Amino acid sequence: MFCDVYSVGMNTLNDTILVTGGAGFIGSNFVLTWMKAEGAAVVNLDLLTYAGNAANLESIASDSRYTFARGDICDAGLIGALLGRHRPRAIVHFAAESHVDRSIVSPEAFVRTNVMGTFTLLEQARSYWAELDEAGRAAFRFLHVSTDEVYGTLALGDPAFSETTPYAPNSPYAASKAGSDHLARAYFHTFGLPVLTTNCSNNYGPFQFPEKLIPLMILNALEGKPLPVYGDGMNVRDWLFVEDHCAAIRKVLEAGSPGETYNVGGNSERANIDVVTTICDLVDQLRPRAGAEPRRKLITYVKDRPGHDRRYAIDASKITRELGWKPAEQFENGLRKTVRWYLDNAEWVNSVRSGVYRDWIAKNYAERVSA
Ligand code: NAD
Ligand code: TYD
Repeated sequence: MFCDVYSVGMNTLNDTILVTGGAGFIGSNFVLTWMKAEGAAVVNLDLLTYAGNAANLESIASDSRYTFARGDICDAGLIGALLGRHRPRAIVHFAAESHVDRSIVSPEAFVRTNVMGTFTLLEQARSYWAELDEAGRAAFRFLHVSTDEVYGTLALGDPAFSETTPYAPNSPYAASKAGSDHLARAYFHTFGLPVLTTNCSNNYGPFQFPEKLIPLMILNALEGKPLPVYGDGMNVRDWLFVEDHCAAIRKVLEAGSPGETYNVGGNSERANIDVVTTICDLVDQLRPRAGAEPRRKLITYVKDRPGHDRRYAIDASKITRELGWKPAEQFENGLRKTVRWYLDNAEWVNSVRSGVYRDWIAKNYAERVSA
């Protein structure tokens, strides 16, 4: 735990943290679990793009420790003002464009938010940090949340990504995140800003926008729609339950060494087709349809994603060894909880599936005729 004020004098820090992208999937899980675990105040800066949903945080909206600021991480003036007003002891940076398929269709927003937005945030953090007194400078942290996709792709049998694996991003999304990671690294090395970076594998759990594999398949299965599996369905991802990711971020913030990067993963590699069939079986169990065919029959192989990375796998031994973090949730159990959450939260699902969502689904899948 942290004390209320880090130093005395003009340039003090509050116990507050500034979260960016806290209305998105991982950010909202992080804010909710943070308020339970830590109790310290949170300022959430989020632009509320199609992927952000203030309703995710409805349960804490009237909590006096929570402040929501709608705005853009590319807006230097706004960030400077928020830092000056709230004097946070840390920034936890989630805000990003995060969907690979969208980065293939429209890469510009990814460069803008992920590269320029991170740059703007780092610059503002640097000015704020430079004005702090010595104790404040020592206590401050900038935690940059990144992805394993910066490392590129693995063949079956290759060793998992470690923190020293060379960067080889393959999609515009991964390239823009790699750019942001390099900037974060440079701000530590050049200016001494206490930056920490986490590179995490695929997350799943409540509040994930239903353009990503797991929620898309749950909702399509529920509604008896085709389940569009890209290519041969044998691409492998390492899945981590979102609350485990949030716990890892809290650990890194509390005990990570500035300048270090930490890989975070679930040790749960699964081929996409296995994930999809498991979802079908869970939906069959939880929402049986008398006389209907098993949902597996809805699986439809469609045209592959261009440049589709074959396999991701994370070696999380550093964070386990140095900080004592390891995932708590088993994949099959976490997936069952996730399916149940989507089935129980029809109102949330309907609210995020706006016209914008429907336009995306029409665009992304219209061109992927069955293979
Ligand atoms: P998400 O797309 O669900 O949410 C992104 C949030 O950022 C949204 O609330 C959106 O409104 C906000 N945002 C977007 N552009 C913004 C801008 N210019 N200014 C302010 N806010 C803006 O993303 P997510 O899946 O929650 O991912 C969060 C972070 O974690 C990202 O940095 C992503 O790269 C990283 N990550 C995600 C995964 C995963 O599996 N989802 C895995 C590893 C790392
Ligand atoms: P996704 O959830 O988009 O995450 P990422 O591309 O960042 O790993 O996709 C996970 C895997 O599922 C990926 O290999 C692509 C595949 N996929 C499908 O087969 N069909 C789909 O409709 C989607 C969205 C993804």
